[in-house]
Amino acid sequence: MRALAAASSPLRARASLLLLLSASSPRLPLPMNPSSSSSSGGGGGGGYHSKAAAFASPQPRGGARRRGGGGPGGRGGDGSDRIDALGRLLTRVLRHMASELNLDMRTDGYVRVHDLLKLNLQTFAKIPLKSHTVEEIREAVRQDNKQRFSLLEEDGELLIRANQGHTVMTVTSEGLLKPILSTDEVSVCVHGTYRKNLDSILQYGLKRMARLHVHFSSGLPTDGGVISGMRHSVNTLIYLNVSKALQDGMKLYISDNKVILTEGFDGVVPVKYFEKIETWPGRAPIPFQK
Ligand SMILES: *[C@@H]1O[C@H](CO)[C@@H](O)[C@H](O)[C@H]1NC(C)=O
Repeated sequence: MRALAAASSPLRARASLLLLLSASSPRLPLPMNPSSSSSSGGGGGGGYHSKAAAFASPQPRGGARRRGGGGPGGRGGDGSDRIDALGRLLTRVLRHMASELNLDMRTDGYVRVHDLLKLNLQTFAKIPLKSHTVEEIREAVRQDNKQRFSLLEEDGELLIRANQGHTVMTVTSEGLLKPILSTDEVSVCVHGTYRKNLDSILQYGLKRMARLHVHFSSGLPTDGGVISGMRHSVNTLIYLNVSKALQDGMKLYISDNKVILTEGFDGVVPVKYFEKIETWPGRAPIPFQK
């Protein structure tokens, strides 16, 4: 397991190791997978950890490791902090960590809530995931204003997935997402980014980086609300020419929370598919060469 709660001091590394040992003795025979039981970060485990790390929102390092003191009901603030922290951990686990955690994930991205609640992780509020309930998971999903999750009941079992943003390769576009077959299905398809990235984007196209897909929003954040698929702070909008993309066989998909996703061609959406580029929120055109 990586340095999520990385040993910033040898002392802490020691402490978490001890905790790990003591946690493994009582009744729950939790199969510890090898990658989650080493406490040194190291380069092992390939690019996986770093991918996950790259998408971790800036947190006071902490995160996914069981550590220190306060058990269930310990610190962690009021109820909404607790739920908010749970939601953030769920996003990270469901998008990026299924394979390193040996979590059984279907190709449509769903995992059993029951399995999730057995993981030896703690939320950013320093609350062990195991001390949360199914009801709290439902609450985290309900409270999420970007609709990042879906729940599904199947054969009396509750399943959860992240609607987009995956880096785990067990999830396939076809399983997770609905293909867009005609331009009628999208009125606008826009990628939010930052002016400082534009030179590189215009040189190489839009790249999916560690993710499975390049993300586009299906609307503009005009009402000041949040919009799925775009960061609040973006200052540059790149519009995709959807009909040209479809014409040339680029596969476009839409997620349950209306994010438009594509692998482009080999992970890149070339500049010739850009319809226009604008500043945001000013919406002044930015000229570019196709
Ligand atoms: C989008 O692509 C279509 C098909 O190639 C083309 O006819 C149209 O002019 C393009 N639109 C813009 C705004 O570039």
